[in-house]
Amino acid sequence: MQLKDKVAIITGGGRGIGRAIAIGYANEGAKVVVAARSGNQINAVATNIQKQGGHALAIPTDVRVKSEVENLVQQTVDRFGQIDILVNNAGVNPRGQFLDSTDEDWDLGWQINVMGVVYCCRAALPIMKRQRRGNIINVGSGMGQVGHADLSVYCASKFALHGLTQAIAEEVWADGIIVNVLIPGPVKTELSRSGWENADTFRAASDPWKAPEQVVPAAIFLAAQPPDSGMTGQTVSIMRRNSP
Ligand SMILES: NC(=O)c1ccc[n+]([C@@H]2O[C@H](COP(=O)([O-])OP(=O)(O)OC[C@H]3O[C@@H](n4cnc5c(N)ncnc54)[C@H](OP(=O)(O)O)[C@@H]3O)[C@@H](O)[C@H]2O)c1
Repeated sequence: MQLKDKVAIITGGGRGIGRAIAIGYANEGAKVVVAARSGNQINAVATNIQKQGGHALAIPTDVRVKSEVENLVQQTVDRFGQIDILVNNAGVNPRGQFLDSTDEDWDLGWQINVMGVVYCCRAALPIMKRQRRGNIINVGSGMGQVGHADLSVYCASKFALHGLTQAIAEEVWADGIIVNVLIPGPVKTELSRSGWENADTFRAASDPWKAPEQVVPAAIFLAAQPPDSGMTGQTVSIMRRNSP
């Protein structure tokens, strides 16, 4: 029970990696708040956790909408009294050649993968500062370290996320708040479907697609870091290759 009585918000917790982390944290004793747009998915995750005897709350949230993010944070504090862990996991991956990419693609990728994290951090950090403890985990990507063809929107947004993480970490470490990036590597989810459905695409052979549950130990490792003395501004990657 490494996270006993910790309160964790997980954005994008309705499916894929976020769902696995939500259930994994609950199994370690955390009270979990699951947020995403699809109410049926987040409700199913919360019900699953409650049936196992855990504490969970599902709050429909679009991380692009500042007022919805503020509501997420407020409802979490109203229900559980604190926020120990924020996992910024919600993400999208618009694919295609750079020259074919539209303003809508760029808006989508930027608004969710970057501004969604900005809004969540802006809403949660004042509470974490008052608590003088907090742990933020931003789900990054190997595509935020090396650029790839057909993934310009995704790469640009994840590179930005990694820089944002380091900058925030530098500002809040003295408040007992840590901020790190978790890189899952290729995981079989809806987001990556076009990759794993097409066996010829990058990584398939030598960096096998993981199940979402395989990301959970690293997510627990980061969540269990002591906020006043744990690692911050760092990247934990569980990739098996640095480039495809
Ligand atoms: N799968 C991989 O290979 C891989 C590799 C490296 C990094 N990642 C990262 O891992 C994270 C999770 O991805 P995944 O693979 O688990 O994808 P996924 O199965 O498609 O799940 C994405 C989650 O994000 C939520 N989401 C999307 N837009 C949102 C919004 N505007 N507001 C709130 N929630 C939103 C989705 O729910 P709704 O659509 O219902 O809102 C869903 O719960 C992403 O940040 C992704 O970049 C994935």
